[in-house]
Amino acid sequence: MASQRARLPEKSEIWEHLRERLTALGADDVDWRNKKTAVYVFHPGDDVLNVAKEAYALYQSENALGPAAFPSLRRMEEDVIGIALNLFHCPEDGDETGAGNMTSGGTESIILATKTCRDAAAAKGIDVRGASIVVPRTAHLAFDKAAHYLGLEIRRIDVTSDYLADPVAMRAAIDERTIMLVGSAPCFPYGLVDPIPALSEVALDCDVWLHVDACVGGYLNPFAELEGVSLPEWDFRVEGVRTISADLHKYGYAAKGASTILHRSAEQHAHQLFSADNWPAGAMTTPTVAGTRPGGAIASAWAVLHYLGVEGYREKTRRILNARRRIAKGVEDLGLRAHGDPNLCLISFGPVEGDDLSIFGVWKGMHDRGWFSGVVQNPNGIHLMLSPSHDEVADRYLKDLKTSIDIARGGEDGHVAAPTRYA
Ligand SMILES: Cc1ncc(COP(=O)(O)O)c(C=O)c1O
Repeated sequence: MASQRARLPEKSEIWEHLRERLTALGADDVDWRNKKTAVYVFHPGDDVLNVAKEAYALYQSENALGPAAFPSLRRMEEDVIGIALNLFHCPEDGDETGAGNMTSGGTESIILATKTCRDAAAAKGIDVRGASIVVPRTAHLAFDKAAHYLGLEIRRIDVTSDYLADPVAMRAAIDERTIMLVGSAPCFPYGLVDPIPALSEVALDCDVWLHVDACVGGYLNPFAELEGVSLPEWDFRVEGVRTISADLHKYGYAAKGASTILHRSAEQHAHQLFSADNWPAGAMTTPTVAGTRPGGAIASAWAVLHYLGVEGYREKTRRILNARRRIAKGVEDLGLRAHGDPNLCLISFGPVEGDDLSIFGVWKGMHDRGWFSGVVQNPNGIHLMLSPSHDEVADRYLKDLKTSIDIARGGEDGHVAAPTRYA
């Protein structure tokens, strides 16, 4: 049988032809530009997408591995970290001056926060092999990945009936081998901000590190608060919070490959670095998991932050909040219920207790009508991660949702299995 494996072509091909082929390759992708996708992609408007793209292209070959060669990227990264520390109320006095880095994404930021916590514990003489981290059931799976890579145990703890991290149950799961506690702001499955002040009390009492995963909310919560949304304090205002992960490629609207890891103090940040010099090419110290770091992602984030400013982010946030409120109300009017009481950019919803509606059947109906979103399980539901541009299509979404519910209740699409994430 002839090999199916791709081969490097012998001859070169002109770009115009390749561009056509690339476009054709995307024919089966979700058409997120039509605003019917509510996962993976964030659509803040064509002008912002253009700024992100042009800034990326300007620095696409530059490499933040070499700050001496590219002081431009060092400066941009410092600016981005400064902006983040200010947005997240990091104190600026004494030892608590704050520090951080840009990373490739939320997962890398979470791995680095966990590694820093582990190495800071080891520096205090604690045996960290197989030490544990305690997280609510709703924390992102990136914490499992971090624990796996770093030789730690992860303990996932049930949430309250409001779907929030349960500080009492989490305290009970801490033992002398626990080094870290996690809260989300908000969590991915339900879009809810965990009670960070209560988790902080537990962390301070038990002398463990508190990490806040604000990968979703870091560049949204400050503007939602300005728009009057009431959130528990979730950032460095809370004493026990040691690190925060916050993604620029989500609600920062930068090109993909941009997140931030922030530390309360520079002393703490020192444990994030990795240094070695036992090879011929000399000593090397790197702050992140990646060696080479794409200049494009850094430039794109820097440019979008400055393009939008507080004013621009507030406007995008207002539109998201508007879309979520309308969808939440519409969902309730259709006899479904949201999981918890989401007040930011995410919502998941399913049937009320005792209703045997197949919500995955509804999801399939929506998929057949061109809507692409995630699902949640236990309890089952449809999951929406909203973009500013969804405020233009919220009514269409609800109209199609009603049709899909009617069809699923008719039994045609009953007993549909949960669509698999990332498959
Ligand atoms: C709350 C939360 N944390 C972490 C991550 C991981 O981010 P990334 O996919 O950029 O690695 C996500 C991704 O959706 C998330 O929602």
